[in-house]
Amino acid sequence: MTAVTLTKPDDWHLHLRDGDAMKSIVGMSAAQMGRAIIMPNLSPPVKNSVQAKAYREEIMRALPKATSFNPLMVLYLTDRTTKAEIVEASNTQEVYAAKLYPAGATTNSENGVTNLNSIYPALESMEKEGMPLLVHGEATDSNIDIFDREAVFIDTTLSKVIKDFPELKIVLEHITTKDAVDFIVESEKNIAATITPHHLLANRNHMLVGGVKPHYYCLPILKRQYPHQDSLITAATSGNPKFFLGTDSAPHDQHQKESACGCAGIFSAHAAIELYAEAFDRNNSIEKLEGFSSIFGPDFYDLPHNTEKITLEKTTWKVQDSYEFANTTVVPFFAGLNLSWRLLT
Ligand code: NCD
Ligand code: ZN
Repeated sequence: MTAVTLTKPDDWHLHLRDGDAMKSIVGMSAAQMGRAIIMPNLSPPVKNSVQAKAYREEIMRALPKATSFNPLMVLYLTDRTTKAEIVEASNTQEVYAAKLYPAGATTNSENGVTNLNSIYPALESMEKEGMPLLVHGEATDSNIDIFDREAVFIDTTLSKVIKDFPELKIVLEHITTKDAVDFIVESEKNIAATITPHHLLANRNHMLVGGVKPHYYCLPILKRQYPHQDSLITAATSGNPKFFLGTDSAPHDQHQKESACGCAGIFSAHAAIELYAEAFDRNNSIEKLEGFSSIFGPDFYDLPHNTEKITLEKTTWKVQDSYEFANTTVVPFFAGLNLSWRLLT
């Protein structure tokens, strides 16, 4: 096969940042994706529909007027999110979901949820309104090993939320383990997961063998090839509609990654669909890409499929070493490495 044409994909988990940083990178997602679920972990976070609308307007102002890109906004849940805020958000045209960050789990999660019970009123409203809960699924107790945090979260927290809110739509974001894959496969159809390109294409050896490579550091952290990376590849390419595209592209300034205490986050918006094509093709499953990238996500969110198409051509090209990012640079995933599919523009 030398080319594939797909329904235009959507990114169901994207960090666009704000201000000049956002202006530097938003065009890359807009060039590839029809829609994107925009993460609310700004500083300060996007906590209500007024803030979500203002953030969406800022994003739209940074794009050409004629863009077809549609940012779908998300509320950041805190211990103080009210039922009224959920109902108000669900009645807007702009807000599509709310996000649970356990406090301290990741970048800008300090204002996240410290006690699950405090968001029960919000979850009750979300279940009633049909608003999906997006979950950063990692336990945060300091004694839990960083490589076990996803599995422990599933056992202790996610299972409880599902039991207490059986009709709530839930997306377990950026899954990284066989434990998560098995859990999703066995759960009801209102429970789904996104998978990132970096968790399909890399494992902890990429980050740690031959020296610490900060540009491979993200949360949840890269796991072992076997069984975790392998089972993510199997899930993504299986055609099971519970698994769909969410890049978790999370740009940080190069110096903040290459530091004594480097930030978590991998930037992949520069080549999102090409990275997924690489992962699917390496597994001889390029024909399974369209369902994962363009069909299962909108079906889960009850939204129409995009009508535009994109074409990927089989041709080798090298990812550049860095991109401009506000007044500094960001190092992209696969910097200096070859990819074997390229999006035709
Ligand atoms: C994300 C970020 O930088 O905002 N970082 C990451 O490693 N994925 C936050 C998140 O999604 O956990
Ligand atoms: Zn994220």
